[in-house]
Amino acid sequence: MILTDTHTHLYAEEFSSDRDLLISEAIEKGVQRFFLPNIDSSSVDGMNALTKKYPNNCFPMMGLHPCSVKENWKDELALVEKLSGEQKFAGVGEIGIDLYWDKTFVKEQEEVFRRQIKLANQHKLPIIIHSRESFEEIYNILLDSKKGSPCGIFHCFTGNADQAGRAIDLGFYLGIGGVVTFKNSGLDKTLAEIDLQHIVLETDAPYLAPVPFRGKRNQPAYIVKVAEKIALIKNITIEEVANITTENSRKIFAI
Ligand code: NI
Repeated sequence: MILTDTHTHLYAEEFSSDRDLLISEAIEKGVQRFFLPNIDSSSVDGMNALTKKYPNNCFPMMGLHPCSVKENWKDELALVEKLSGEQKFAGVGEIGIDLYWDKTFVKEQEEVFRRQIKLANQHKLPIIIHSRESFEEIYNILLDSKKGSPCGIFHCFTGNADQAGRAIDLGFYLGIGGVVTFKNSGLDKTLAEIDLQHIVLETDAPYLAPVPFRGKRNQPAYIVKVAEKIALIKNITIEEVANITTENSRKIFAI
């Protein structure tokens, strides 16, 4: 059984004391592939150091996170564009629009998102979308941005069945993590209506730990809890969940 974590911030300082231990424990449990989304200029070195250490397990991505779109966004975006020309990345992410934390730079967030979709098209890479309270805004931009294949992932998808259907119709996959284990999230009912062909797994570690670790630091091995929950919803084995979702991640990233 091979599980793939399509979205983890394993380079984050929350893991500085036990990162190697957590990675080896996860690999032992079958979690063998980690896709690392970038945040901004401050996360690049840590991400690259980690992928250099684990070239067969950790795959870096490049992008500017919407919550890091501030006064200096032009410099930050220029760095993303420069590095994308110099180094091979598995995808462009994480990118998108966040209307939950701060709406001061919403216009700039949209501009940066559009330009990073273009960047992904240039390099023929998938995009990893952060869409917190912004599904409709993102969807409208995707409709007229003509994202080429491979499309990418709606990271931490928590929308309804209608939104899931529209994202899938555009060619996107839905990233499902710890939220599916939360009581009253409703995501289990949405997932029951969606074919696993459109789903990938993610932790978003160190955030969003699944039950029974909710509220604690999330870590790579906990993705097993997400896979177990999906197996329960779909009434199949965890091995089947692992096989299908890892195969989906291979289609997206060609890795
Ligand atoms: Ni993230």
